[in-house]
Amino acid sequence: MEFTPPPRSAWSIPEDVTYLNHGSFGPAPRVVQESREEWSRRLERQPMDFYLRQMEPAIDQAMESLARFVGADSRDMVFVDNATVAMNVVAASLELKPGDEVLLNDHEYGAVFRIWRQRCEAAGARVVTARLGAAVPEVGDSEHSSRGSGQFRSTADIVEPIMACVTERTRLIVVSHITSPSAVIFPVAEICRRAHERGVPVCIDGPHAIAMREINLRGIDCDFYCASLHKWLSAPCGAGFLYVKRSWQSRMKPHMTSWGRSLGGRPERWQDQLNWLGTRDPAPFLAVPIAIEFLEQVGLEGFRESTHQLARTARARIEQLFGLADWLPDSPDWFGSMVAIPLPASDYKKAKPNAMHPLQAALLNQFRIEIPVTEYFGQAFLRVSCHLYNTTSDIDHLIDALQQIGRF
Ligand SMILES: Cc1ncc(COP(=O)(O)O)c(C=O)c1O
Repeated sequence: MEFTPPPRSAWSIPEDVTYLNHGSFGPAPRVVQESREEWSRRLERQPMDFYLRQMEPAIDQAMESLARFVGADSRDMVFVDNATVAMNVVAASLELKPGDEVLLNDHEYGAVFRIWRQRCEAAGARVVTARLGAAVPEVGDSEHSSRGSGQFRSTADIVEPIMACVTERTRLIVVSHITSPSAVIFPVAEICRRAHERGVPVCIDGPHAIAMREINLRGIDCDFYCASLHKWLSAPCGAGFLYVKRSWQSRMKPHMTSWGRSLGGRPERWQDQLNWLGTRDPAPFLAVPIAIEFLEQVGLEGFRESTHQLARTARARIEQLFGLADWLPDSPDWFGSMVAIPLPASDYKKAKPNAMHPLQAALLNQFRIEIPVTEYFGQAFLRVSCHLYNTTSDIDHLIDALQQIGRF
């Protein structure tokens, strides 16, 4: 495939930094930064005109572009600051009674666990954690009732342990589209189909999937989809969305209270509760169409294929260095532009609570490499994110650094 990525100068990443963490915080290309700045300038020129007359139509237009990109109807979506806000809105809206259960699994994001634990605790409900494992040693955890093998070879290795935890008390399944600590693509459409057969709604936590995967929300048929757009889409930080299936929309409650109506005086919509959350700068939302345009002009297929190939190369070389076998099939069905490689348990001590993992600190401090070591359920992973500005020389630098840090 003939594909020419944009030059690194299209971003403003410092020359001496090897940035391999688009998965946590993706730097926006300069054109996207400029778009956001221009919207902020428009706001500041005449705020009355902006908030009362310009903002709502501009948000609608930006949402049309986003809805087309993710295969949804814009009437079912609302901009929010990020996936965390979206998940909090779902948690605020779901009715829970004592004894009810919300089903997560052990690859879910830490903050998502906190949101649901807190929400369940307040209602006398409980979080149930399906254990999928991740090619890791056994670790103690009391909340689960089903255990997967941790060797993902077919979608059943993910779907079955989750479905085995569904009971008549399950009120919601919360599942990542692409997991954070382990970077695995989950079969979300299959999970939705199976959950719906049991009458259980599904909330997808999808910030990594937007742009990294081709998404068709109509096809996935989830009840809720929570996403940040500052990751793979490379929109500015402060842009995310919540998708809500029609049948749920009248039940949605905001996570915080404001006017709950349109400032411009247009007819009522379910999104009104979330569109105006006090006076804030919506420039990150309004720059989303430029982020989409940037990737579409580059070529989405080329973006996905080239960044996957780089992630694949990184994985093969790091696994060889660590002497590990694949724990995930070598296929774009299982990982995209981001890949997580389990660290040999004996080599790196656990990071102290709230401290950066020692390997992550060494890579940053000695080699100027921004890359996370993710940890969960006792297993550490080196997570490599590859975006359009990354090249094989970034991977060479990473391998060289890992070799110098040593202890393999
Ligand atoms: C799977 C997953 N869910 C939710 C979040 C939260 O995203 P944000 O901080 O943009 O709200 C992240 C962030 O890394 C994530 O990886």
